[in-house]
Amino acid sequence: MSQLSLRKEGTARTIAMKGGGYYSERTRGAKDVIDNASGMLIEAVDQILPPAQGHPVTLADFGAADGGTSQEAIKACIEKIRVRFPGTQVQITYTDLPNNDFSALFRNLLGFEQQVHRTYLTELEDVFVNACGIGFHQQLLPDASLDIGFSATAMHYLSEKPCTIDDHVHMVGATGDAARAFAEQAAQNWLDILLARAKELRPGGRLVMLNFGIDEQGRYLGNTGGVNMFNTFAALWQKMAQEKIISDAEFKDTAFPQYYRTIEEFCAPLEDKSSAVFQAGLRLVTAHTGVVGCPYRRAYDEASGAMSAAQFAASYVPTLRSWSEAVFLSGLDNSRALEERHAIVDEFYKRYESQVANHPDGHAMDYVHCYLALEKVKL
Ligand SMILES: C[S@@+](CC[C@H](N)C(=O)[O-])C[C@H]1O[C@@H](n2cnc3c(N)ncnc32)[C@H](O)[C@@H]1O
Repeated sequence: MSQLSLRKEGTARTIAMKGGGYYSERTRGAKDVIDNASGMLIEAVDQILPPAQGHPVTLADFGAADGGTSQEAIKACIEKIRVRFPGTQVQITYTDLPNNDFSALFRNLLGFEQQVHRTYLTELEDVFVNACGIGFHQQLLPDASLDIGFSATAMHYLSEKPCTIDDHVHMVGATGDAARAFAEQAAQNWLDILLARAKELRPGGRLVMLNFGIDEQGRYLGNTGGVNMFNTFAALWQKMAQEKIISDAEFKDTAFPQYYRTIEEFCAPLEDKSSAVFQAGLRLVTAHTGVVGCPYRRAYDEASGAMSAAQFAASYVPTLRSWSEAVFLSGLDNSRALEERHAIVDEFYKRYESQVANHPDGHAMDYVHCYLALEKVKL
C-alpha cells in the first residue's frame, strides 16, 4: 500500500460516526438541518430535465452515515418526482467511507429499528437503493448518470489531515502554517469534490449541499455566542495532558481532519470563469448561510426548570460524542490497549458532561451551514 493510501486510511478511521444506529439516534440537529432544507430538494426536482424513456431518475446522498437523518427528505423528493414524472423508477445511491456502518444504513432503510417497518423503501414502489463505500473526493458514479446529488454535513471532512495542530484540536483554533496547510488542503478537496460531481451529473442535473461552514459573523458549529465547543474540547484534552493521563505527543496528534469553509471559499470556483469547475459546467444557483439551533439546548430551555442541568448534560454530550469520539480515540498511541484508550475517552466525555452539568449556561451545539444549490449546464 502506498504512503498516501495509508495516510488516507488513517484519516478515515478518525472520521467514522459512532455505529449501530447511535449516529442518527443522537443527532436530531442534523436531521433538523436536512428537514428545514428539504424544499431545496423539491426545487431541484422541479428543475431537472425529464429522464430518457425507460430510464430512472437518479439520486445520490454523499456522506450519508446511517441514512436516518435524510430519510424523510428523500421520501418527499421521491414523492415530488412521482408527481412530475409519473411511473418513473427512482434509484438512490448512498455513499460514505468504507468503515461506515452500512449495516445500520440498510436496517434504517428497511425500518428494522421501528416498531412498524414503514420507510419510503417499504412504502413506495419502484425505488431501488444501493451503496458505495468510497470517499466523495473522487468520482463515484458514471459520467452524466446523476440527476440530483445531495449532501448534508459531510463535506467539511478532508481527504487527509495535512499536519498536526500544536495547541488545539481543530482548524478553527489553528494559526500560522497549520492554518494555511488546512486551508490549502480544503481548497484542493473542494475542487476535487466539485469536479467529480460535475462529471457525474447529467446536463440539467442539480446538487443540493448543506455544508458546515463559517458564516458572515464568524459563527460556526458550537460557536454562536456562548461557550465555544471546540475550545472546550481542546482545553479538556490539554488538561488531561497536563495531568499525564495522555502524553503531549497524543495531544498534538489529535486533530479533526475537517475544515469549515466560508461562503466565499465555497463559491470561488463556481464564480471564477477560468476555473476547471466552471469550465466543467457547474454553476451556482443559490448560496446562503443559516443557523439551526441545538435541539438539546432548546429542550432544556423550554423545560424551564423541569429538567436539571445534569439531565441536560446527559442528553447533550452524546450528540457531541457521536461524531467526535473517533478523533480522540485515534489521537491516542496504538501501544495502549484498546480498553485503555476507550477508558481515557470515556473519562474525557465524563469531564465534558460534568462541566456542562456544573455550568450549563452557554453550552449549545448550534449548527452553522452554508446551503448551496448548483446546476450542471450543457456545454
Ligand atoms: C456528520 S455525518 C453526516 C451524516 C448525514 N449526511 C447527516 O447529515 O446526518 C458526516 C458523514 O460524512 C462521512 N464522510 C466523511 N468524509 C467522507 C468522505 N471523504 N467520503 C464520504 N463520506 C465521508 C462520515 O463518515 C459521516 O458518515
